[in-house]
Amino acid sequence: MSASPGKPAVCLLASEVAPLSKTGGLADVAGALAKYLHAGGHDVRLFTPLYASIDRAALGARPVAGLTDVPLVLGQQRYEFSVLGATLPGAAVPVYLIDCPALYARASLYTADPDEHLRFIAFTRAALTACQQTGFRPDILHCNDWHTAFAPLYLRTGLGRDGVFAATRTVLTIHNIGYQGIFPAAEVADLALPPADAYLLHQADLAAGRINALRHGILYADAITTVSPTHAHEICTPEYGMGLEADLRARGAALSGILNGVDYDEWDPRRDRFLPVHYGPQRLAGKAELKRRFLARTRLTTAPEVPLAGIVSRLAAQKGIELMFEALPKVLAARPLAVAALGSGEAKYEQFFAGLVSAFPGRVSFEAGYDEAQSHWIEAASDLFLMPSRYEPCGLNQMYSLRYGTVPVVRRTGGLADSVEHYDAASGRGTGVVFNDFDGPALEWALDTALDLNAQPAQWAQLQRNGMSQDFSWERRTGEYVALYRRLSGA
Ligand code: ADP
Ligand code: GLC
Repeated sequence: MSASPGKPAVCLLASEVAPLSKTGGLADVAGALAKYLHAGGHDVRLFTPLYASIDRAALGARPVAGLTDVPLVLGQQRYEFSVLGATLPGAAVPVYLIDCPALYARASLYTADPDEHLRFIAFTRAALTACQQTGFRPDILHCNDWHTAFAPLYLRTGLGRDGVFAATRTVLTIHNIGYQGIFPAAEVADLALPPADAYLLHQADLAAGRINALRHGILYADAITTVSPTHAHEICTPEYGMGLEADLRARGAALSGILNGVDYDEWDPRRDRFLPVHYGPQRLAGKAELKRRFLARTRLTTAPEVPLAGIVSRLAAQKGIELMFEALPKVLAARPLAVAALGSGEAKYEQFFAGLVSAFPGRVSFEAGYDEAQSHWIEAASDLFLMPSRYEPCGLNQMYSLRYGTVPVVRRTGGLADSVEHYDAASGRGTGVVFNDFDGPALEWALDTALDLNAQPAQWAQLQRNGMSQDFSWERRTGEYVALYRRLSGA
């Protein structure tokens, strides 16, 4: 029973949470969902690792009683963790930071180190221990991605019969099925499962010499969500299921898609804290002014009238960057266009953008790295925004783009299909340019289509207005999660 009737208490586990730690959309989603649940009167408590990059002093993080130097034995490894309590900046949500320097004091949030699985098994176990120690009885334990996907399995063991979890129901949200947390079966002891519960592990995987964290979440969570309705269908197919499609189909009734929201406190050109000039649908002159300043800042020498295409992305195969290899040089050679890209990741993609900068001097800018302010500038200054993803569970930047009057050019997949409607010039309906096939010519067609529309001021203004009036706010989305929590918990 939750403390407030009708308002399930939620324990949210996330390996990254904005604004504390972020590599991608999971951080935005975890931070925003917690914030809106809290604002809705839910007892929501957020757990996340205390990475070296998090400034504990600035957060005013304090030790939680009874949770200092707690021993944790996982296989041959002995750790000690502490839990620090704080509130999420700007949101007053209670956050519990799992402090274990041996595991989290590394150069990046995620690593390719041999103990990567241990880092997140330890995080999951520490969070469960913290609930027990503080007497927090969540109605819902909501875990995210492979990092915390063992939590539902743990609740099937003796741990789950513990008083605080006796009535807890579990939700697994799959943000990215491309990362499954696979490690060698020889390291099974690292899970520290009681021998009597070892049968819960996926036996065929074990026999094949591996353990797949995400698969266990899919097997044991009471409900599974992914971050768009279209992607919920996609991951049940071999094309998108990445080997988990049969497990997902078997859990069909428990699987649903809830589109991510946008935190318009952070992403709205009317009040964006990173921008010196603000604008809205009625005052687009501000956008033109920001574009002029942006061109100067990034040393792009094209005239302000030349359309600017923005890219802000992790540079990974998922994002379809290789479609740009063929399409971007062709379109840049053929017609007026400038490109501003920001991102880091695989070397071949970084090299591609660096090469484009040299090939089209003054027309292409590329910043390799992670730069929050620049990501807001690109959203505001660009005319188009490119997301030709191979797969995209939801995607946030296309929704940010809509609000910024920046026309998204996207492939029809996952959340891109659910949030951008192809513009129909005859009826004036639609919010972006959407293409189907995952190949260079399809992206080239989409770019040409967008640039042709951009050359027609009345059509372009209509397209921008349509996009800017869309509402993907978290206020609405949170309701879908709450409805799911209520169905599961009976709260
Ligand atoms: P994913 O989670 O797959 O990376 P999303 O579109 O859901 O994709 O979310 C990406 C988030 O990360 C967005 O908020 C985007 O602005 C941000 N982002 C991605 N790359 C960078 C970067 N290089 N600098 C700043 N922000 C970035
Ligand atoms: C991911 C997906 C992205 C999604 C984000 C947050 O990593 O790639 O599409 O928006 O998680 O759910």
